[in-house]
Amino acid sequence: MTILDGKTLSQEVMEDIKVEVLNYKKNGIVPGLAVILVGDNPASLLYVNMKTKACERVGIYSINHRLPKEITEEKLLSVIRILNENPMVHGILIQLPLPEHIDENRVLEEVATCKDVDGFHPYNMGRLARGNPCFTSCTALGIMKLLEAYSIEVKGKDVVIVGAGNMTGKPMALLLLNQNATVQVCHIFTANLRDKIATADIVISAVGKNGLINGDMIKERAVVIDVGIKKMGDRVVGDVDFESVSPKASFITPVPGGVGPMTIAMLLHNTLKAVSLSLSS
Ligand code: GUN
Repeated sequence: MTILDGKTLSQEVMEDIKVEVLNYKKNGIVPGLAVILVGDNPASLLYVNMKTKACERVGIYSINHRLPKEITEEKLLSVIRILNENPMVHGILIQLPLPEHIDENRVLEEVATCKDVDGFHPYNMGRLARGNPCFTSCTALGIMKLLEAYSIEVKGKDVVIVGAGNMTGKPMALLLLNQNATVQVCHIFTANLRDKIATADIVISAVGKNGLINGDMIKERAVVIDVGIKKMGDRVVGDVDFESVSPKASFITPVPGGVGPMTIAMLLHNTLKAVSLSLSS
């Protein structure tokens, strides 16, 4: 069994990004990322801080907007419109989830498609669905980079994705389909999840339910990717029971240190892509 070491790979990616950022700066361009956080959800705050620190490490200028949870949708939309027009801002990220009184779809659609570093705008989701992606979900992209780095072929493989969310499950399915994998997307209403996982060459779980996947459920030598992340006391755990799954798997991501750091590295990667787009338009 080989551990898919997202921590090390993300550091390598970030070293390359650092060099690219320096080159931009030599030409008078400072890559900038605006991060909007509405409210004070502790998990969101933690993620946003991690993203900001990563920007600092590679020299990307990050602009944080912490907005009160009572903010009106109109006011939030006006903040986005200002960022859309700001030439110092190349990428815009709106940390999810948003408070319930705000229409997430409406807000995500307001982000300029050329600054949509999360890839959540319908234009970018649509391009991915067409097989002609521009910006793609950082988590899904990070998983593809990990698979590639370890020479794990996806073409012709049976992949089961558990979790059909817009942030990971759906974009992941499309990326894999675009690479000619056979993909099944499972969710809370899926019947016989166990049977589906049992025959999968690659299992990707993005649910956030500790211990959902155990060693009895997977095929011998399956590749297992754990996107779930949950705090249990002072430990961070995933969906996969590492102890029982790892002896059977051929490759497995740890939690922490697997998909999480790759997601952040891909956010920085997408920010530089936004810089490059801004120069070509
Ligand atoms: N909330 C949890 N994960 C993410 C993410 O990758 N992007 C955004 N915008 N919000 C999130």
